[in-house]
Amino acid sequence: MNFELKTLSLSAAASHPCDLLVMLVPEGFTPHSDALSVLAARALQEGDLETKPGKMLQIYAPPGLGARRVVLLGCGSARAHAVRQAVQALTPTLKTPAIEQVAVVFAAAPEPAAVEAVVRAVADASYVYTSTKTKAKAQARALSRVVVGVPSASAVRSAFATGVALVAGIEYAREWANRPANHATPTRVAEAAKALTDHPGIQCKVLGPAQVAKLGMGAFMAVAQGSEQPLRFIELRYDGAAGSQAPVVLVGKGITFDTGGISLKPAAEMDEMKFDMGGAASVLGVFRALAELRPAINVVGLIPACENMPDGKAIKPGDVVTSMSGQTIEILNTDAEGRLVLCDALTYAARLKPAAVVDIATLTGACVVALGALRSGLFSSDDALAQRLLAAGDAALDPCWRMPLDDEYGEGLKSHFADMANVAGRAGGAITAAKFLQRFVGDLAWAHLDIAGTAWKGGTAKGATGRPVALLVHYLLGLASEPATKRRASSRVRGE
Ligand code: BES
Ligand code: MN
Ligand code: ZN
Repeated sequence: MNFELKTLSLSAAASHPCDLLVMLVPEGFTPHSDALSVLAARALQEGDLETKPGKMLQIYAPPGLGARRVVLLGCGSARAHAVRQAVQALTPTLKTPAIEQVAVVFAAAPEPAAVEAVVRAVADASYVYTSTKTKAKAQARALSRVVVGVPSASAVRSAFATGVALVAGIEYAREWANRPANHATPTRVAEAAKALTDHPGIQCKVLGPAQVAKLGMGAFMAVAQGSEQPLRFIELRYDGAAGSQAPVVLVGKGITFDTGGISLKPAAEMDEMKFDMGGAASVLGVFRALAELRPAINVVGLIPACENMPDGKAIKPGDVVTSMSGQTIEILNTDAEGRLVLCDALTYAARLKPAAVVDIATLTGACVVALGALRSGLFSSDDALAQRLLAAGDAALDPCWRMPLDDEYGEGLKSHFADMANVAGRAGGAITAAKFLQRFVGDLAWAHLDIAGTAWKGGTAKGATGRPVALLVHYLLGLASEPATKRRASSRVRGE
């Protein structure tokens, strides 16, 4: 899909040839004398159109206009959030096979974020998964060209570019998260990471079982040992700044399927555990977007990828393993496997002397109970880092919510037979999981995003969302736009 930003007055938009012209009509719309304004003003006056986000009037082949179809689309305040909501209402139309060329025009100069939102919302509304379908050609996205028309293109060019890059990144993440576990094995996920090295500035290194054993990643290996699929440890690098600049490290949970292991999950909806590599997919997506945007920053992506399976060789409740950090862990529940693969990746991350480490994981059902599908859970002992991530989430329309990390929450992790257990009681499950991870990060500037509720949707709209690619990319762009000195100073401000 090809996006183009154009300076387009409403009168120029009226003669613009396309299959569908969408005119965004805000509250308090002030019409001019062009044909589109006249149409919208009349429809509003007659009560045939409202400006609430998503309210619309569809018109077929209006005489004198260049488009075959025109939609007058209410967009409320015309802020990013409202514009997204408006475009979401167009989903069935944007999936129509006959609609290949679309133009979306703003009646008045938009805030930059609203331009990013339009680009992303059009892509989101027209996305279709086809990889494992035989009628893929017939069902594929018909939309091939999207023109975004604004009064002045130069004012919003960078927001537009961010939107286009995010579409590439989000769709890469969705694609890999959506693929069934037999088509997205650890080996195949590693290949998806390697494919990103086709873009300049990106490198990738993949470790297999022997190398991971040599590093002493006993917790990660313990999860993988019940599976026929060999584990992969993926290290992506994006170099956009001087080599002397400490990288931001992103760590994505890459459980390509989570059966629960010997602590087997119930059958209902177990298919959704193919999405348990949503954190890993988001890391792939971030690198895909970085390749487009090329910001001045260094980023490392780490993905411990394996399956969690029950087997004669699988770990059993009560087994004790030694993590790469040297700390021993009693695995009381084999279904709490995410923290086991992440803890070794975090120890590895610390060796890279990072400016900050952010892990992203579909970690706990408890986080879904706490926050639902709207906000990801954010845990961080570093106030400055937490503030940056919260702000990035708001700006990206990919919000998170900060959760507590009081030390008392970690008390339930004590074990009779190891340095710690991998689970505490049922209460506060998202927090105790974060407290477990915190034992492996020392005093690094660290944050943990629990995306169990946000990485995919179940039910009739089942599929990966690509979250939190947008949050992470906004966070990284924010860092890249600041002088390195300021960056380091603020990441040293501790929250405790
Ligand atoms: N991948 C799951 C978390 C999950 C569950 C995400 C449901 C989304 C929906 C994770 O590996 C897991 O099984 N966590 C357990 C932890 C428990 C055993 C302490 C959970 O949340 O039940
Ligand atoms: Mn699990
Ligand atoms: Zn899991």
